[in-house]
Amino acid sequence: MPPRAALLQALLVGVCLPVSPSAFEVLPNESSFGATITGLDVSRLLEGVSPDFDRATIPKHVADVATSVKRALHEHRYLHFPLQDGLTWETQLAFLQLFGHAYDESSHVNRKSWKGEKDARVAVFSNNPEHGLVGVGVEGFHSDGNVVPIPHAATLLYCESTIAGGNTLLVPLNEVHARLDPALIDGVNFASAHVPGLEHPLAYHHPSSGRQTLFFGLGALSGLYSRHNVTMTQEETDAVTGAIESAIDEVGVHTHEWDAGSLLMLDNLALAHKASAGTQATSDPDALRILRRVTLAGKRKLARRDPVTFASAAKRCDDSVCLVSLARYTRNEEGPGDFPGVEESREICRMALHESADLATLPTKEHARMAGEVVEEVGEPHWILGEEWAGQESVQWPGLEGADEWAGEYPWHSSSGQPNDCDGPGSEPCIFVGPGGNWFDFACAPKTAEGVTPGPEITWGDARRMFDIHPLCVVPRELVEDGGMGGRRGEEL
Ligand SMILES: [Fe+2]
Repeated sequence: MPPRAALLQALLVGVCLPVSPSAFEVLPNESSFGATITGLDVSRLLEGVSPDFDRATIPKHVADVATSVKRALHEHRYLHFPLQDGLTWETQLAFLQLFGHAYDESSHVNRKSWKGEKDARVAVFSNNPEHGLVGVGVEGFHSDGNVVPIPHAATLLYCESTIAGGNTLLVPLNEVHARLDPALIDGVNFASAHVPGLEHPLAYHHPSSGRQTLFFGLGALSGLYSRHNVTMTQEETDAVTGAIESAIDEVGVHTHEWDAGSLLMLDNLALAHKASAGTQATSDPDALRILRRVTLAGKRKLARRDPVTFASAAKRCDDSVCLVSLARYTRNEEGPGDFPGVEESREICRMALHESADLATLPTKEHARMAGEVVEEVGEPHWILGEEWAGQESVQWPGLEGADEWAGEYPWHSSSGQPNDCDGPGSEPCIFVGPGGNWFDFACAPKTAEGVTPGPEITWGDARRMFDIHPLCVVPRELVEDGGMGGRRGEEL
């Protein structure tokens, strides 16, 4: 469109036509992290949507917004949505649930109840006990969910009213990690002061972005840390927490000054935050701060994972693409049972390798052969991006136009009766590649039913056991030849 026409159209949109509730812009902050989202009216976007909506009924434009917001969140680490006046707690909760399940705020030991609570998933903080819980979040820099086994993935804060100096302080953890002596934090676990025995790895790779990050709660939130599973002394713990405090000072703290009607979304694993002392000020009885919080439940325990480079990853390439295993990245040191589902694996491919990466589709026999070789080399199952439905003749390959090469004769693992929808019709629409390069149908994420193992039980070689399923990603070949992981995150995932 010529510039003049574009300008005219922009003016027309701005003056005469209603702006779409789902068209928005991401404006990165001048500092190294954070972005402001403009042009997105969350209340309009979710008009008529209840907090417990049926996922299958979400309109496409709303699902598309959620996908874009999630990507922006992992890229920028926090998102500020200004001018969301009148956002109700129901809509705040519905917005969060576009990204997964809201955590029940009342279900951990460090949460006191408040008489005005509307919903167990919504916490209300204030400087006045008549209006919310007081004294929360001021203990020290922390990530939320440091008292539960699976910390929260994201935190969504909405400001109903604010007071001067009632700020939220933010610090980016990748940068803090870079300033810590590797020898000081090697094998160290953060330990909760509130839950005996609860630990998280202090340093690990972010499960979505692949960046190095940290997990801790400082001040009164910290118990005695451990190193290689041996409890450290108070002095040793203080040496680590002191180094973290110094690194935070070096990196610099971002002060978010609230306006009433502002919404803030934090990538809880990429940032540490705390409430400033000013949030609790009570000198002026008319000065009222009210902040509503909902948190997105995490999916997997935090785990140290092997760094992977293209050079070290199992892969096969043809002239145009490479199929790359991320098993070294998603494998757990504690053994199988906790692995990413298909949607999470797609995100891992994209964030860890390159924006153009995705789970591999296998509509050609050559790609299926390459996939089989990678999977045999690794010796563990891998997700591919195909859908199989009971009673349907063909596999659907998202994004593929036209037919595949198989003419219905897919390399299913026939000796175990695949595809078998073993938990009932339609229960296993996703596909992984297993021993011999053969295909198996499976649920699209780890199974959660009681008495059922989360991963598939397969005979591979002589033994039968439960396996994890790892991402098998496809990336353009030139990215591999350029070296590094597509140049996106440098040499290391
Ligand atoms: Fe917090």
